[in-house]
Amino acid sequence: MRSWALVVPRARAEEIRRRLLDRDLLQKHLRIASEGETVLLPIRRQVEMGFPTAEKDFAEGFTAIRSYRDVVEVPVAARSSLPSSFDVVGDIAVIKIPETLREHRRAIGTAILRWNPSLKVVLEDRGVKGVHRIRELDAIAGERRTTTIHREHGLRYRVDLSQAYFSPRLASERKRIADLVREGERVADPFAGVGPYSILIAKRRRPREIVASDANPVAVRFLRANVAANRAERITVLEGDARAVLKRVAPVDRVILDLPHSAMDYLPPAFGALADEGTVHLYAILERAEESERGDVVKALAEKAGFLVRGLAHHHVRAYSPTKYHTAFDVTVARA
Ligand SMILES: C[S@@+](CC[C@H](N)C(=O)[O-])C[C@H]1O[C@@H](n2cnc3c(N)ncnc32)[C@H](O)[C@@H]1O
Repeated sequence: MRSWALVVPRARAEEIRRRLLDRDLLQKHLRIASEGETVLLPIRRQVEMGFPTAEKDFAEGFTAIRSYRDVVEVPVAARSSLPSSFDVVGDIAVIKIPETLREHRRAIGTAILRWNPSLKVVLEDRGVKGVHRIRELDAIAGERRTTTIHREHGLRYRVDLSQAYFSPRLASERKRIADLVREGERVADPFAGVGPYSILIAKRRRPREIVASDANPVAVRFLRANVAANRAERITVLEGDARAVLKRVAPVDRVILDLPHSAMDYLPPAFGALADEGTVHLYAILERAEESERGDVVKALAEKAGFLVRGLAHHHVRAYSPTKYHTAFDVTVARA
């Protein structure tokens, strides 16, 4: 297709392409071409940018924006520190921004919204804090809200990221656990948050009962709403400390201890809640070298609780830091 072209030196082509994109002058459906050491940028009309223009033939093609980094406006020196990924919860993007890029955070947010127009909010993730594991968030682009509806495994979860914990990164782990639940089981999910483990199990398996609870009253409010919205049956929702709930619900066949930083503290009450046999899913943040020792401690605690360990397996749910992993231990025990 014939179009006006801006003829620019190869070394400046990327910079000029971005400027054209920003001014909406680039013909995005035409493929950028080159002639020797010059690059031909297809443009909507002749423009004065200090480079020659000429009429040229271009091939047509779809040029998708592959990443927000393709359209973000930051100095060249900052580009290498741009985060390569971020979480998407419903129509909200949640991104961790390195301290060195904080002055560019609004540009990053704007680029994310431009990259994916179905996203409506960009929040800067300032870390998860406190007992209730609540994320500190700053709005950096788009609408000013922290609530949304997130879809996972065909189910819908209403969340408020500023008031109750939710992470989309655990979707596969939730599915893995749900797939292990056998018909007729009683399951305790004492760190249930807004309900993504319990509701998935209730909807996809045939348990006898699931007791889903959390110490954060706001999480429990969302949990109840999500149970109702997904028409999940056989879930009993409670509010309170995991230790007390585990005492109250015993005996159960399976306990999900999804509080990675301190789940070990709750392992004895979890064993205490099991029937004559059962399984505990214990999460932890560990270096690889710490895993086998952690396994030994788990075994010792099981024996102290009067059980024999029938199965102890672990796997990495995801990388947590350059050296640590979010690790899941599946501990299956039977009364000694
Ligand atoms: C890591 S979040 C997990 C949430 C949920 N399982 C999920 O997949 O989204 C841990 C949850 O445990 C809750 N929590 C922390 N300490 C608790 C305790 N002692 N008893 C009960 N819940 C607690 C927090 O409020 C938070 O919702």
